[in-house]
Amino acid sequence: MSVRETSEEDGSSRGANEAAPGSASAVALAGPGEFAPLRLGELSIWPPVVLAPMAGVTNYPFRSLCREQGAGLYVSEMITARGYLNGNRRTAQLASSRPDENPRSVQVYTSDPRDAGEMVARLVDEGVDHVDLNLGCPVRKVTSHGGGAAIPVKPRLMANIVRAMVAAARGTPVTVKVRKGIDDGLLTFGDAGRVAQEEGASAIGLHARTAAQLYSGEADWSAIGELKARVSIPVLGNGDIWECWDALRMMRATHCDGVIIGRGCLGRPWLFGELAAAFDGREPAPPPNLGQVLDVMLDHARRLCEFFGPELGMLQMRKWTAWYTKGFRNSSPLRERLRTVSSYEQLVLGIEGLDRDEPFPKNALRAHRGKSGRAQRVALPQGYLDHRDDDVPPCETFDAAEAEALDGG
Ligand SMILES: Cc1cc2nc3c(=O)[nH]c(=O)nc-3n(C[C@H](O)[C@H](O)[C@H](O)COP(=O)(O)O)c2cc1C
Repeated sequence: MSVRETSEEDGSSRGANEAAPGSASAVALAGPGEFAPLRLGELSIWPPVVLAPMAGVTNYPFRSLCREQGAGLYVSEMITARGYLNGNRRTAQLASSRPDENPRSVQVYTSDPRDAGEMVARLVDEGVDHVDLNLGCPVRKVTSHGGGAAIPVKPRLMANIVRAMVAAARGTPVTVKVRKGIDDGLLTFGDAGRVAQEEGASAIGLHARTAAQLYSGEADWSAIGELKARVSIPVLGNGDIWECWDALRMMRATHCDGVIIGRGCLGRPWLFGELAAAFDGREPAPPPNLGQVLDVMLDHARRLCEFFGPELGMLQMRKWTAWYTKGFRNSSPLRERLRTVSSYEQLVLGIEGLDRDEPFPKNALRAHRGKSGRAQRVALPQGYLDHRDDDVPPCETFDAAEAEALDGG
């Protein structure tokens, strides 16, 4: 059986999830029959790999790019039920897909059972094959109104939302995605697992951080193992999978049924190819050199322009240029140059003359893209914790455009 070493993050120390420096860092490829396909209702997903819903990221262009590299389930960014049901044009575009996408998966954001049911019924009519519910958004604007990560604090409210979705889905699998809880003093994932199971969810995904942690610190994979031991529905583990080896280690350590890949694929869609190989017991291809990375980046830009139009497409592309070029030689002046590109032609000019043979920088494999850093004190509505057994949906006020800026999970 072939083994590999996970790459070491530049300068940072390894945490509990990572193999000890030096010695025991070898990870074996998946053995024959070691892992099973992920079952979500009628869907069978192999490898058991899910692209995390990420606001501003997992639109159709990026999903299609990832899907071409590997296999698995590719979830949309969170789509607000209010924006969708009100016919907001932008929300409809973000929720939309193309006929080549199969299975088609949409993440719903709402805290209202009626909206939840109505939205799921319409999504299923549109041909959506899987619906996920966002119960992990940690953003102040959301939790301060009792939405997102605040919902599992009230298990009866959560139950009403999941029940409405499952009923409206008419057999289409519904899953939920949660965080560990509000903070270390108020963990909700155990209750959330019980409710999800009781109400007919097909699986539960756990981002193993609290809302207070945002993206800081290390994901607590032991919570994933704990949840797996408590429920009989499939558990999807999420947090800090940067290389395919991390996915295998998480599955082995926690016995979860599948993995959710977030920041590790930002500017690295080929990670899904590496995951597919590792789960099939094949040695993954070596990481691409700079020339190959630039080709993928240009492909991504063309897809964004085709889907959103050239102006909005290139605006979206700006953040991606930093993620694609992270860690390569002289990448900071390059990033600076690409940060303001406003046309595809400018992007092509901006990368002219680079050394296409430069190998992929090892230290960029585990470098955080998208989000990291600070923790927060979670804002909840006044007196929210005094009535944990009530099921009154919170009154939320943000519109679709604001929701898009929330980056919520
Ligand atoms: C830019 C960005 C946007 C995100 N948006 C969402 C979202 O819309 N819905 C959601 O459930 N989680 C969202 N998340 C959280 C991710 O789905 C995932 O749970 C988190 O990044 C942890 O996984 P990772 O360590 O692999 O990145 C977002 C994360 C990032 C970085």
